[in-house]
Formats: sequence, C-alpha cells, structure tokens
Amino acid sequence: MDSALSLDFRDVVEQAAIACAHTTGQGDRHHADQVAVEAMRRSMDRVPIDGTIVIGEGERDEAPMLFIGEKVGAGQHDGGSYPAIDIAVDPLEGTNLCATGSPNAIAVLAAAEQGGLLNAPDLYMEKLVVGPTCKGAVSLDASVSENLGAIAECLDRRVEELVIVVLDRERHAQLISDIRKTGARIRLITDGDLSAAISAAVVGSGVHAVMGIGGAPEGVLAAAAMRCLNGEILARLVVNKSDHEDRCRKMGITDLARVYRAIDLASGDSIIFAATGVTDGDLMRGVRFVDDGIRTHSLIMQTVPHQVCFIDAIHVHEGSADPRVRF
Ligand code: FBP
Repeated sequence: MDSALSLDFRDVVEQAAIACAHTTGQGDRHHADQVAVEAMRRSMDRVPIDGTIVIGEGERDEAPMLFIGEKVGAGQHDGGSYPAIDIAVDPLEGTNLCATGSPNAIAVLAAAEQGGLLNAPDLYMEKLVVGPTCKGAVSLDASVSENLGAIAECLDRRVEELVIVVLDRERHAQLISDIRKTGARIRLITDGDLSAAISAAVVGSGVHAVMGIGGAPEGVLAAAAMRCLNGEILARLVVNKSDHEDRCRKMGITDLARVYRAIDLASGDSIIFAATGVTDGDLMRGVRFVDDGIRTHSLIMQTVPHQVCFIDAIHVHEGSADPRVRF
C-alpha cells in the first residue's frame, strides 16, 4: 500500500472527529455518531483507493453508509484504477464518551491490502492487550494472577504497581475481583477499550494491560494498532447466542474458539492506522475550536515504512485574514 495514503486517511479521521466534536456533551450519542459517520463517508471518497469496508457500521440493511461490504474511495466516482484496500472504521469510538464530554472518544480507521483485516462479526470478544515488552508472556487461558505475574515480571515491577484497564460492566465482576485479589490497580472505564488498548502499547502511558470483553470490531482495530506499535492483543469471540454461530460462518469464521493474535486479526503486510482525538484523552487531545481555525491531534501509524506519528494540526479557516498560530 502506498504510504502516502496515510495522509489521505488522516484527513478522513480528522473530518469525522471535527464533525462530532461539535456535539460533545450534548447528550445525544446517536446524533454524535451519525455526524461522524457522514463526515467520514464524505471524505473517504477523496481517497485514491478502490476501497471495501470490512468493519463498519453494520450490515447494509442496518446502516445507510459505511456498512460492511460498501465500496468506497475515489475509484467509485472517477472510474480510475486504484489499489484494492480493505478498511475497518469506527467513525466515533466511544459514542457515550462524546455525548457526555468524557475523555478518550476518538475517530478511527485501519486500512490494509485486500484480505489484510479480519472480517469480524459485531459480537463481543474476550481481549487481553499488552505492550511490546509483554508480548508472548500472557495467555487467554492462563489465570488472571498468572497473567499479571507475567506482565509484572516482563516490566520489572511489582504486581501492585500495574494498572489494568477494564470496562466497567457487570459481566466483569469476577475479573475485577480476581485482579483486585492480586493487588494490581484497576482503572475502570465507562467506554472506549480501543483507546485503552493503544495506551497499553505505549510506554509511559501509565496503562500496562487491558482485560475483559468488548466489541470485536474494536478488537480488529486494536490489532491494527498493535501491528504498528509492536504490542499484542489476544482475542477470542464470545459465541453464546443461537444466531452467533451463523453470523460467524457467514463471515467465513469456522473455528469459533480460536484465540487470535494481532497478526491474525490484522494480517496485512502493509497496515495504516489513523485516529483523531474527539475529546481530550490519554494520548491525544480532543478537537479544539479556536478563533482562526480548528486544532486536531491525531495518531497516524503504518507498518511500511514503519512509522508512528503524532500530528498536531491547525486547520486555518478559509479566508481567515490574519491567522495566529499558538503553541
Ligand atoms: P460505541 O462507540 O459503539 O459506543 O462503543 C464503545 C465501547 O465502549 C467500545 O469501546 C467497547 O468495545 C464496547 O463499547 C463495549 O460494548 P458494551 O457497551 O456493550 O459493553
């Protein structure tokens, strides 16, 4: 994949973030999501690709745009010949976070050459995310205390000094109790396990692992981020309702108990991951509306060439006569 596409994808996540940032704190998560989706869809068609959405807003009959299987990119309009690219999108990850003005809402996408991202159903997924130092030391089948012991050893710190992020959900009561028994510290989050996963792979973020059950689409996006950050996600689909098996098979998944790693969920050689902060977060600031323009903070990463860029951009309003750039 042409690495210059990362600039185009940066525009796509910036536009989605700017659109929904206007709705921050308005209390309407559906509206916030809708404006992010519309903005992302519009800007996607400027990207010079023959794109296919593989992780999106749902099936065609559930979602009017960015649905799974939708063709996107400039190739849809100008008839030009462009590279075939698969795309996973979450125009607003953390719809509640945006609606309540809480930290860590982001606009995000990942792209890979055709076939390079798992076409996962919108089910839950059991996840364990760690940074590069702990890669290979943890297992989804190990106990919580074994995993935390291994993480502590890899990081050369005591278990009590770890911070584990867990979604604050009833289904995690046992997990939370098991973590507490080890003495490790827990950060309970209301939403946004993708942002937390990215933090777990960034040294100095103060997050050492993410554990628990969250969305499978967010798991695939997290895997793309891990490929760029050299972190690891271990993941297993939660198949516990009558229609789940069928939904998995329709997407070509036959081994329902499989434990996926980052390389399985995001297997492409060439991966681009792009995210823009909507609200202030651990790694990115949220969108700021200033006199002369709009300021965005994005994380743009790719595997080829291997780069991780934090981009602080000021989008100066057109016609702004005398813009002032502030630090
Ligand atoms: P939305 O952006 O769709 O609201 O999802 C946010 C999120 O918290 C994800 O980060 C997480 O993976 C998932 O929802 C958890 O799902 P649930 O809220 O059903 O526990």
